[in-house]
Amino acid sequence: MQDLEKDLTEEIRSQMRSITIPREFLLEAENIEGLLLYYSYAIKEVRAKLEILNDELAFKTKRNPIESIESRVKKPASIIEKLKRKKYPVTVESAFMNLRDIAGVRVICSFIEDIYDIADMFLKQDDITLVECKDYIKKPKDNGYRSLHLIVMVPVYLSDRTLKLNVEVQIRTMAMDFWAALEHQANYKKGIEGIDELIVELTECANIINQTDMRMQDIYHRIKNVEQTNRMEMQNSVRRIAQ
Ligand code: GTP
Ligand code: MG
Repeated sequence: MQDLEKDLTEEIRSQMRSITIPREFLLEAENIEGLLLYYSYAIKEVRAKLEILNDELAFKTKRNPIESIESRVKKPASIIEKLKRKKYPVTVESAFMNLRDIAGVRVICSFIEDIYDIADMFLKQDDITLVECKDYIKKPKDNGYRSLHLIVMVPVYLSDRTLKLNVEVQIRTMAMDFWAALEHQANYKKGIEGIDELIVELTECANIINQTDMRMQDIYHRIKNVEQTNRMEMQNSVRRIAQ
């Protein structure tokens, strides 16, 4: 995972540049609801892949690396607001071309290492193309925000064609998610008296949360080691009795 950002090879970049806009698709999806329906299919594809990975790993390791998955298709009002804010034309074609987070999936994991394991396994799948990776865990934002953000291109198999659509996948721990939700609320209240101090305090909390995430992961490994040592000792004593 460490090298993901470097892995965005020229090949993928040129692939991105050469995507031909399916004009037929754009004409057909005259209204924004049509476009959003296609993005909801892309979300279904991504969710299915993640759910299968989680189920298989639960079967193999007796533990679920994914705690929960949330998803949403951006609301038309938010799409229009973002297009205006970024000074893009406010059309369906422009939304398809310029916005990469119309479909969003958030994956909540137990431990930091689960985030990278899930991302690796997901990105290795043949029909997933990584478009962008922002690792806000290795490089947290100044406010303390941590999460792994992936923009991926996913095929959606329709009755008569295949569409490739962008999906934003955010992967974080439960603790990071808890923090992000509160920080999001505080951000909406910017400008209100007393809020600046709270935002500073939130940044301190982000760092404490990160230390706790790392300690919890370490404790988990130590529990596993204790279990393994006990199992081996038990097997050795059984062997000694049998001799
Ligand atoms: P956008 O124009 O917002 O899409 O920014 P970007 O394309 O630079 O994307 P980035 O990957 O930085 O962030 C995308 C999404 O991650 C945001 O829409 C939020 O949902 C979430 N996010 C990013 N930074 C923060 C943050 O500081 N706090 C919280 N709570 N969420 C964040
Ligand atoms: Mg974005």
